[in-house]
Amino acid sequence: MHVLVTGGAGYIGSHTCLELLNAGHQVTVVDNLSNSSEESLQRVSTLTGKEIAFFRIDLLDQLGLDAVFRDNQFDAVIHFAALKAVGESVAKPLAYYQNNITGTVNLCDATQRHHVSHFVFSSSATVYGIPRSLPLTETSATPMEEVTNPYGRSKLMLEYILKDWQASQPQTNVALLRYFNPVGAHESGQIGEDPNGIPNNLLPYISQVAVGKLERVGVFGCDYETPDGTGVRDYIHVVDLARGHVLALDKLAENPGVVTYNLGTGNGYSVLEIVAAFERACGKKIPFTFLDRRPGDIAVCYADPSLAKTELGWVAERGIDEMCTDGWRWQSQNPSGYTTIAGS
Ligand code: NAD
Ligand code: UFG
Repeated sequence: MHVLVTGGAGYIGSHTCLELLNAGHQVTVVDNLSNSSEESLQRVSTLTGKEIAFFRIDLLDQLGLDAVFRDNQFDAVIHFAALKAVGESVAKPLAYYQNNITGTVNLCDATQRHHVSHFVFSSSATVYGIPRSLPLTETSATPMEEVTNPYGRSKLMLEYILKDWQASQPQTNVALLRYFNPVGAHESGQIGEDPNGIPNNLLPYISQVAVGKLERVGVFGCDYETPDGTGVRDYIHVVDLARGHVLALDKLAENPGVVTYNLGTGNGYSVLEIVAAFERACGKKIPFTFLDRRPGDIAVCYADPSLAKTELGWVAERGIDEMCTDGWRWQSQNPSGYTTIAGS
């Protein structure tokens, strides 16, 4: 297939481009580089020995987007492009709704006008709000009032928008992929997560402590109802997540309409277990301090990934030690992310 990947220069997008190319697909990327570097795509090309067509375009630029669709015959769209910082979304809700919702509506419009029938969307476990029971299945409740920030609400709203769109266009097929907590990096150490400024998420924070850029990890809360009192999440290796997208495209080729899948491992790890796993991976002590709970955080979240296994033939193959080892390889070889100069 010829696949348009929006946000393809970003963390999950770049890993997915690599898996798509290795699976024999042709890849075109649209990205405005607001949170990424074109260097990631150059490295994917080097790793795969295959070209990626790249267009630096913002999804809010309807004419630019239309030109990319006009000049290419895509078979499918994988839509990663979004703003994703939870705290920033609280401070700048309109920027988040404009970028994530208007950007997606523009993309659907172009997809429809150019008769592209397969669409994969990056959703999130955040749509489940506060879990009523665990593990979370695709039929678990997704109550809007429990999603605690504009970023998360943009994902839940977009799930509804995409379902409404598909209902009006039965020839269109949509996969809503609900990611749990993507971490790690490609085993080459050449591509990985390169956050701007101080990381919001646990794993990039820990790896920047390990590499000496940050002093100590602040652990948000030690009094949750979990075995060690710290928050529990379902961490998933980004390469397993990327493979899930390739399999989702195969599923859409069966014309299923709308399908929704959890992409997680089914295992929960606490913050302290992750700190310990990262210490094993990097061979260093990771200093940490307990802080207050972070507003909006839940205690425990993990997936039932069995539907993706049954319907996509997908299982997460990489465990927590591989996630930390691969994440550390990327961080230690690229201490300043994609701006690192070789050998520095
Ligand atoms: P990322 O920031 O690394 O990648 C997103 C990419 O989209 C970036 O390259 C950015 O430059 C681009 N982009 C943003 N707005 C754009 C616009 N208007 N036009 C064109 N390009 C634009 O983030 P990521 O971690 O790779 O996340 C990819 C997707 O997965 C996002 O939709 C995110 O919400 C979703 N997701 C991420 C996580 C996570 O923890 N990383 C969890 C659940 C869901
Ligand atoms: N945590 C810390 N210290 C930190 C960062 C995080 O203790 O510096 C804790 C959090 O309290 C939580 C766990 O580590 O218990 C994981 O936190 P992350 O910020 O890494 O991830 P979240 O589960 O909060 O959210 C992430 C993404 C969301 C996405 C969600 C999907 O940030 O966008 O996973 O499940 F929706």
